[in-house]
Amino acid sequence: MLTPQLTEHARDVLRADDRGGYTVPSPRLYPYQWLWDAGFIALGWATFDEKRAWEELERLFSAQWSDGMVPHIVFHRADPGYFPGPEVWAAPGPVPSSGITQPPVLASIVWRLLERAKDDALAEAKAKTLYPKLLEYHRWFARARDPQNTGLVALLHPWESGLDNSPIWDEALARTPRAALPAARRDTGHVPTEQRPSTLEYEHYFGLLEHFKALGYDSGKLYHASPFRVASASFNAILHRANRDLLALSETFETPDEAEIRGWLDRSVTALESLWDETDRFYYSRDLLSGEAIRLRTFEGFMPLYAGTASQERADRLAETAGDWGERVRYLLPSTDPSEESFEARRYWRGPVWLNVNWMLEQGFRAYGQVDVADRLRGDGLELARTSGMWEYFEPHTGEGLGGHTFAWSAALVLDWLENGG
Ligand code: DGY
Repeated sequence: MLTPQLTEHARDVLRADDRGGYTVPSPRLYPYQWLWDAGFIALGWATFDEKRAWEELERLFSAQWSDGMVPHIVFHRADPGYFPGPEVWAAPGPVPSSGITQPPVLASIVWRLLERAKDDALAEAKAKTLYPKLLEYHRWFARARDPQNTGLVALLHPWESGLDNSPIWDEALARTPRAALPAARRDTGHVPTEQRPSTLEYEHYFGLLEHFKALGYDSGKLYHASPFRVASASFNAILHRANRDLLALSETFETPDEAEIRGWLDRSVTALESLWDETDRFYYSRDLLSGEAIRLRTFEGFMPLYAGTASQERADRLAETAGDWGERVRYLLPSTDPSEESFEARRYWRGPVWLNVNWMLEQGFRAYGQVDVADRLRGDGLELARTSGMWEYFEPHTGEGLGGHTFAWSAALVLDWLENGG
């Protein structure tokens, strides 16, 4: 597909997934609004309709809870094609929603929209209105997910990571209670079973959901009561980057919160760098209940480059590692190291390539001058979209499109790439 056709195709995908003010990630598989999807999707809209980009974020924030949390799914309009839906979650927000959150890319998205805006007046007005909501969201992280001020926030559910069935969670998830599903899974009616998480994983996901529901999703209780508590390298890198971007917003708008945000940043630089393993020369997530590093090599180990906390020496070492992975697959970046036993080339977060990962890590490697890896992440991502289409994820050896189709963030990030240098 030539670039003008690719652009038109990507725009068509966003239009097809538009439900009027919010965008579904994929029409049948994910028929609601998801948090980090909405962030990436807004970047795509911004390339041809800035007003619509801001609307995407405003609709998401209409579901923000009074304690500051932004839920990971917003059920704007009921759809029987998804499990677990609003009646299963039964969460107390102002709009029907889930009761947990997702990777907090939002402040970074708002900053990027503001920085690149063509309509400056619109962008400034919208970003100013969103700023206090972002600040309350980040305060919620500090309060509810890092009550001991360690500099690392905890995930309490694999769904919060956005990387639902990454092998990183296997051991920690196995220790959590299982609960029988009250209704049939719907995802495997839309996508082949071998491309999705297992039913055993779903029973654990559901067990955690029930546990949190029984506690009324009270964020004052959940952290201590959760049988799953992990400091994810990726999630914490995304939050650190988002706090950097929140600080930039605070400086631009001259708000009085700079010192508070700088305090979070100081703590998270040190804490993120403590995830580095000098023997394996890689970053590992940490199981906060056992206190142990989770010694599995997935894309998470590169994410401190996106945060910008790593030293140049660590970045250079990680570039070599990415190069090694790249010799074993046709397309960068497999979500799990192909030499890991748990690697599965076609199953969701256990091996396939995801365009949002390439998009974040391209920025990370480029910021450290690792231009070859950065170019390959972008080039491979664009080639996958050009040759296979706007799929949710891709087989790293063949490029076959997998998971949901008409996948909105793939289209959106392709548009962002094309607008910013192709
Ligand atoms: C799903 O339904 O697969 C989502 O990832 C849960 O958020």
